Amino acid sequence: MSMTTPSIAEPKTGSKRIYNFSAGPAVLPEEVLKQAQHDIWDVANSGIGVCEHSHRGKVFDHILAEAEADCRTLAEIGDDYAVLFLQGGASLQFAMLPMNFLNTDKTADYLHTGEWTKKAINEAKLFGNVNVAFDGGSSSFDHVPAANEINASDNAAYTFYCSNNTIYGTEYPSTPSSAAPLVCDASSDIFSRPAEANKHALIFAGAQKNLGPAGCTLVIIRKDLLESANTPLSQMLDYRMHVAKGSRLNTPPAFAIYMMGLVFKWIIDQGGLTEIAQRNRDKAGIIYEAIDGSGGFYKGVARPDSRSLMNVTFRTPNDDLDKRFIDEALSNDMSGLKGHRSAGGLRASIYNAFPKAGCEALAQFMKNFAQRNG
Ligand SMILES: Cc1ncc(COP(=O)(O)O)c(C=O)c1O
Repeated sequence: MSMTTPSIAEPKTGSKRIYNFSAGPAVLPEEVLKQAQHDIWDVANSGIGVCEHSHRGKVFDHILAEAEADCRTLAEIGDDYAVLFLQGGASLQFAMLPMNFLNTDKTADYLHTGEWTKKAINEAKLFGNVNVAFDGGSSSFDHVPAANEINASDNAAYTFYCSNNTIYGTEYPSTPSSAAPLVCDASSDIFSRPAEANKHALIFAGAQKNLGPAGCTLVIIRKDLLESANTPLSQMLDYRMHVAKGSRLNTPPAFAIYMMGLVFKWIIDQGGLTEIAQRNRDKAGIIYEAIDGSGGFYKGVARPDSRSLMNVTFRTPNDDLDKRFIDEALSNDMSGLKGHRSAGGLRASIYNAFPKAGCEALAQFMKNFAQRNG
């Protein structure tokens, strides 16, 4: 694989696509990429490319309105929720959330299930009191909490959880229940299954795994929550301002919103979230079967009851074999299988747009690798 970037004047030849197991930015649907290729040149027969339109013009009005409408259809989001397209990544939401809804007279409950919840907790502590209602650190973050492992506080301002822990490969099998308003970091499994928006007060997700390119964060927020927001706040960090201005308080990430809109349409065309969920179960099942059927050669990182359908984490018997696995997989056109630097091992990220054939190819490769090295 050549890493040299050709000059933009040179024709690009010999391009091919391989199986991309990257945890994010990640694989996008081919239909979406092909549409985008066209629209970068000329979108909606306007004679202007999608990146070149004013964010206040009619063409972008339509792109934004359609992206929001399709998002609402897909996730069954009612009028009592606002849908926002923001910047700053999921990481800014770690700060914006407590900045808006926490203070030193209030406590928020956090379910700590890995590196991302740690970052969220640290941000929240800057604004108010945090009760770590579950701490997965003592079991190396190998599972998400069952209801009886959660020590909720009385009158929490909100309960924060991360539905899918991208690094450790754990995922809540269903939405946890909470008496307090429920907030979800769904960055790595948003719209991989029915969203249950109505069980949440706020859901956010960086786009770059399941929704599109990096640069936009989807926020779904119940409007009544806004009434309890702190004031005054810097405009760009105030959910109320973004809601009032319909995600156009300043120049929005127009291209990323356009891409998200195409991905929403793609999911709808595939049959919606129930169908996508079934496909994701099938796809992940193929790789987990290869782990479980390896006679102990591969070990899954997550406890079976918390296994992620988006990020399958596993190990070979040792670090040297992990490295050999990654190198040989790449020679077989399978990229991005190295585990996160804080967890090590191997990780296959298989988001919505990742094809089933790629899961089958990986499972086959895993069997072959185990036979040769076991
Ligand atoms: C679950 C989760 N939350 C938050 C983040 C941080 O996202 P961002 O880079 O958009 O700030 C990530 C990134 O991988 C993630 O996986």
